[in-house]
Amino acid sequence: MKELQRTGTGARDGNDATVSRKAEHVRLCMEEEVSFTRKATGFECWEFEHNALPELNFDEVDTSCEFLGYRLTVPLIVSGMTGGYKDAESLNRSLARLCRRVGIVCGVGSQRQMLDDDRFLGSYTVVREEAPDVPVIANIGAAEIARLKDFGPVRRLVDVIGADALAVHCNPLQEFLQPEGNPEFRGALEAIGRLVHALSVPVIVKEVGAGISARVARRLEEAGVRWIDVAGAGGTSWAGVEMMRREETCLPVSREFWDWGIPTADALREVRQVVAPGVRIVASGGIADGVMMAKALALGADFVGVARPVLLALWNDGFEEALRLVEGWANDLKGVMFLTGSRTISDLKLQSLRCIAGAR
Ligand SMILES: Cc1cc2nc3c(=O)[nH]c(=O)nc-3n(C[C@H](O)[C@H](O)[C@H](O)COP(=O)(O)O)c2cc1C
Repeated sequence: MKELQRTGTGARDGNDATVSRKAEHVRLCMEEEVSFTRKATGFECWEFEHNALPELNFDEVDTSCEFLGYRLTVPLIVSGMTGGYKDAESLNRSLARLCRRVGIVCGVGSQRQMLDDDRFLGSYTVVREEAPDVPVIANIGAAEIARLKDFGPVRRLVDVIGADALAVHCNPLQEFLQPEGNPEFRGALEAIGRLVHALSVPVIVKEVGAGISARVARRLEEAGVRWIDVAGAGGTSWAGVEMMRREETCLPVSREFWDWGIPTADALREVRQVVAPGVRIVASGGIADGVMMAKALALGADFVGVARPVLLALWNDGFEEALRLVEGWANDLKGVMFLTGSRTISDLKLQSLRCIAGAR
């Protein structure tokens, strides 16, 4: 679908490298097999206890919830994926339309490119234009935060798209493997702590598919972070994406990195155990249907995030099919709630799951 220019190896960033990298990431995620191969999310190890007497009509089930003052129809976030190059505008327009139609949260991809210039500003602002009444999440990397002396430019990333929160992605695995990556995370935690106090919107610290551990979550909480997206292993492998981008001149790397990371269900449970109940947890990374969504909520998530499956549906099958996919998930979730006698999301969160064969 898209013609791309390859980023030259060794170019440690620069405006055009950022632009072409974002386009190439989307193309690889859409056209290649970039999932984990030897590891699943861990949700397969858990199941609900069936309730043959739910004492509830299906129509009474209420999947709605509150997110930063908005009412969502289901606790779902389309995680940040794209922006910062020409064709990203139409993708973000469709994602925003979809989020509005369903009534869920819309994230934009990394706004790193906006720190250089405003050439592709429209690829980000289109989200708020298209979805004036859904929550929008801005996005930037932890390595960028650590590098910035003042947070004026970060405030602008949030303001310009009218965002309700800022996602800060921690992606050391990706930066390590990326040919032109920036594996510089010294000072990131301290900078995130300052950012939390400097911004008027919440900061959501996320991984990109390798997971946030309990230890990291505790350090984030101590730094003042109140929103964590565990973005665990089992879905899109960003190590895989970057390994495909490495050229022959790059050093060979171990195939083990492809499957590196903490499975999403494990990260979720471990983080939930150590952080205060008031810390909001998003479970993402490999969520592939509404039953998984329900399991994530019952295992301690407040919200669930999805990235590649939605973009893939949009890319391959168009808007209506992507919409049907997400509406199907909402219906799955409602089905699980019915079958477990959970009228509300709060009721679902009280359900205990059974460990099944292979469970840790
Ligand atoms: C095409 C694509 C681009 C992405 N770009 C970003 C990004 O710019 N910033 C970010 O925080 N995460 C980015 N992600 C990671 C997702 O937000 C998510 O954490 C990860 O893909 C795991 O979710 P999944 O298994 O549902 O895809 C991207 C994912 C995809 C598929």
